[in-house]
Amino acid sequence: MSNPASDVNTPAALDVKMAALRERHSQFLNSQLEDRESVSANLTSAMRYAVLLGGKRVRPFLVYAVGELLGAQLSDLDAPAAAIECIHAYSLVHDDLPAMDDDALRRGQATCHIAFDEATAILAGDALQSLAFEIISHHSYQQVDAEAQLALTRILAKAAGQSGMCGGQALDLAATGQIVTVAQLEQIHRYKTGALILAAVQMGVTCAPRVSSDVAAHLTLWAQLIGLAFQVQDDILDVVGDTDTLGKPQGSDQQQDKSTYPALLGLPGAQAYLQELHQKALQALHAIPYNTQLIEDFTAFLITRDR
Ligand code: IPE
Ligand code: IPE
Ligand code: MG
Ligand code: MG
Ligand code: MG
Repeated sequence: MSNPASDVNTPAALDVKMAALRERHSQFLNSQLEDRESVSANLTSAMRYAVLLGGKRVRPFLVYAVGELLGAQLSDLDAPAAAIECIHAYSLVHDDLPAMDDDALRRGQATCHIAFDEATAILAGDALQSLAFEIISHHSYQQVDAEAQLALTRILAKAAGQSGMCGGQALDLAATGQIVTVAQLEQIHRYKTGALILAAVQMGVTCAPRVSSDVAAHLTLWAQLIGLAFQVQDDILDVVGDTDTLGKPQGSDQQQDKSTYPALLGLPGAQAYLQELHQKALQALHAIPYNTQLIEDFTAFLITRDR
């Protein structure tokens, strides 16, 4: 069977936009790290290593793309985009630790606990999480009022914690080596990965002026569908991807007997489910009165990506 993940063909407009936003986001993130006092050079180096080197920057892109679509200011979106990437980078550092997935490669380089040491990696993760909330609460917003600023903090805190990513990671660990139902697996994925993707979209919405509840509801539905689809494709890539392209070890899930979609439904079953999620996600976007071409193309990118 051909591997649909290998024929990634991103439209030029999306490529240009992703490159521009990645550059803007990287500069902002770098300046945020440089502007803060470094008490331990070693800890700061580990944080920079974990957050600045590589990554697709999917969550920042969602903050920017959704916010811009709805009329938010780019300069307001810088803070939530950087904050969510800090939370994501911290989640990866901890996910790779020996006590969790015990992986040695991330974003094409040694994982943080191998490049530094375990204690430093734990602290780098902790400090990246704090940095996210510093960034979001210190920013000089132009168009985001105090109530919306508080909402940004609330969205991110909830998505990162026990009712979000950490809760999902706990379910993932408990399901390792176990047989789970499709409903249980969906719940794991919705929390461990879906929660931060939903938060990225919700923060983009929160930075925009006057978004109707109908539009917000359709974007929320789209975000939930792509959040789940993103992890389904991550599971598929663990089977069909290659380590060099992925920048992380192919086969890690199988080696650890993780509960994944290919393990539960078989590879063709997981691929069919991914296509179903893709179509439903596009339907959610078609229901809103905006030009959603860019985020439709981004949806396709998330689903056909090879890394
Ligand atoms: C990997 O996330 C972990 C998951 C939640 C599936 P990404 O695939 O977004 O990783 P980077 O940021 O591009 O390295
Ligand atoms: C990652 O799930 C979820 C989080 C990091 C929150 P995975 O364990 O599948 O991610 P990878 O495959 O190591 O990137
Ligand atoms: Mg994991
Ligand atoms: Mg992992
Ligand atoms: Mg994975």
